[in-house]
Amino acid sequence: MLDNNLPSWRQYLKSSRKKEGKSPSNRWIQLATVSEKNEPRLRTVVFRGWHKDSSMIIFTDRRSEKIEHLKSNPNAEILWLFLKTKSQYRFKGKISELIDNNNYWNTLSEKSKSSWFWGSPGKKINPKVQSNNELLSNLPKSENFVVLNFEIDSVDLLKLKQPTHKRYLWEKIKRWEKIEINP
Ligand SMILES: Cc1cc2nc3c(=O)[nH]c(=O)nc-3n(C[C@H](O)[C@H](O)[C@H](O)COP(=O)(O)O)c2cc1C
Repeated sequence: MLDNNLPSWRQYLKSSRKKEGKSPSNRWIQLATVSEKNEPRLRTVVFRGWHKDSSMIIFTDRRSEKIEHLKSNPNAEILWLFLKTKSQYRFKGKISELIDNNNYWNTLSEKSKSSWFWGSPGKKINPKVQSNNELLSNLPKSENFVVLNFEIDSVDLLKLKQPTHKRYLWEKIKRWEKIEINP
């Protein structure tokens, strides 16, 4: 059943995700940030669920470049593409860190947890340091574990359809407002 209190784009998204099925790409989203040099940077991350009605949760490593980008510019965009419904969602918003993140750490498998103890992402491999393939166990929370809170303030949905494509824009101006725009 649909929750009428949710922003209406959440209902479109729910339907797109349902039709996409169990494909892992149903949780893979593309996150764009702006570097300190004002250049766009883009990467795939896992959608980890909702925080409140219109914020997405993402896990990352404190040593990754995106953390530096977000310190100088919290603006971000997320792109989520659904093949089955030919739907493209573009989410604009701001990212902050959720400090109280113990519960999120506890949801991870030991295999996932160990990746926060590997060498620094993007840095040259140091063969003397622990191998990235080594599986550790009983891991305490890593200080590199970061939970990002992406607070959405606009959603642009393009649905490729016959006879005409459809495009909607939602913006949060006190409450969520939806308009239909040219595709
Ligand atoms: C399928 C897939 C899922 C990924 N999920 C995450 C994720 O949830 N969090 C994350 O920080 N990086 C994830 N990555 C790695 C990022 O794409 C990226 O390489 C890494 O975060 C470093 O990015 P940065 O240097 O721009 O910060 C994933 C990569 C792939 C291919």
